[in-house]
Amino acid sequence: MSNKNSTYILAIESSCDDTSVAVLQNGKVLSNVVANQEIHSQYGGVVPELASRAHQQNIVPVVHQALLKAAIDKKQLDTIAFTKGPGLMGSLLVGTSFAKSMALALGIPLISVNHMQAHILAHFIDDDKQSKPTFPFLCLTISGGHTQIVKVNDYFSMEIIGETLDDAVGEAFDKSAKILGLPYPGGPFIDKYAQLGNPKAYEFTHPKTKNKLDFSFSGLKTGILRFIQKNVRENEHFIKENLNDICASIQHTITAILMTKLKEASKQTGIQHIAIAGGVSANTGIRNALMTAEKEYNWKTYIPKFEYTTDNAAMIGIVGYYKFLEKQFEDVSVTAMARMKM
Ligand code: KG4
Ligand code: ZN
Repeated sequence: MSNKNSTYILAIESSCDDTSVAVLQNGKVLSNVVANQEIHSQYGGVVPELASRAHQQNIVPVVHQALLKAAIDKKQLDTIAFTKGPGLMGSLLVGTSFAKSMALALGIPLISVNHMQAHILAHFIDDDKQSKPTFPFLCLTISGGHTQIVKVNDYFSMEIIGETLDDAVGEAFDKSAKILGLPYPGGPFIDKYAQLGNPKAYEFTHPKTKNKLDFSFSGLKTGILRFIQKNVRENEHFIKENLNDICASIQHTITAILMTKLKEASKQTGIQHIAIAGGVSANTGIRNALMTAEKEYNWKTYIPKFEYTTDNAAMIGIVGYYKFLEKQFEDVSVTAMARMKM
């Protein structure tokens, strides 16, 4: 049994193509195991059917590894937290069913977690390498499925004040990468080549949205496609010869769009505490731009530790911890939700 001062949480994340399990002791991460699914890269995107199958194969060994790494016996666990949504239904069902069964078998409470809320609350994981934001703050949540500016008033009081009208920013990175013939997911590749290129080599137009805080990336994707097609017609080696400059210019454009919106959000709300979250917040260009803006606009910025940016179960565990303190438990009849509001 755990001692009175410690709450041991086992957290499961299976919303997309990563099977992840973490063990937390209060807000501290004891283990955070992520099994990536290589299978999707040859298809140029996540294949839902294959993702749920891979989760099914991975879940037991990943739970086992997370407990082993944390040096915790399952009998010491106080609660099981899992991602309820949003995400791919087949993927979510694997984590949800496993979490329910495990909680039932151990006779401990079950906690459901919203994946997008978890990306934001990852900032509250106890870790020397990151600092915790103070409320209220703005969080730019950028992932493969979402692009939002969220006003975070408290752990469970969040308001979306801007979001994408079409593609998510992660999709903008991944689809641009696909046009360039790079593997999936392409975001990290664009980031890597961008570091060697000239960000001002090529110019792409910024999309306009009615609400100044909303985003639109589908036009940019089309613009990039036309630009590449035109240049490849003139020189078939255009991509190979200019890959670094193309990637740097794409990343520069996306970063500039995000920063413009963040500045507007800060102006409209008067909030100068600014955080980023989600898989795309791993991007070097975006991180650098935020640090520059911090000095220029007198912001206090919060950049999560790298391993808590892309999908991971530690972020599910920290939400689990705060919900445990408030006894926000779920009945075992709870079901996964592909679409889920914050
Ligand atoms: O949050 P996440 O792991 O999964 C979702 O919930 O969607 O985000 C995945 C997205 C992918 O689109 C991936 O290309 C992007 O994050 N990503 C990056 C970088 N690392 C991951 N995009 C740009 N630069 C990076 N370094
Ligand atoms: Zn995510």
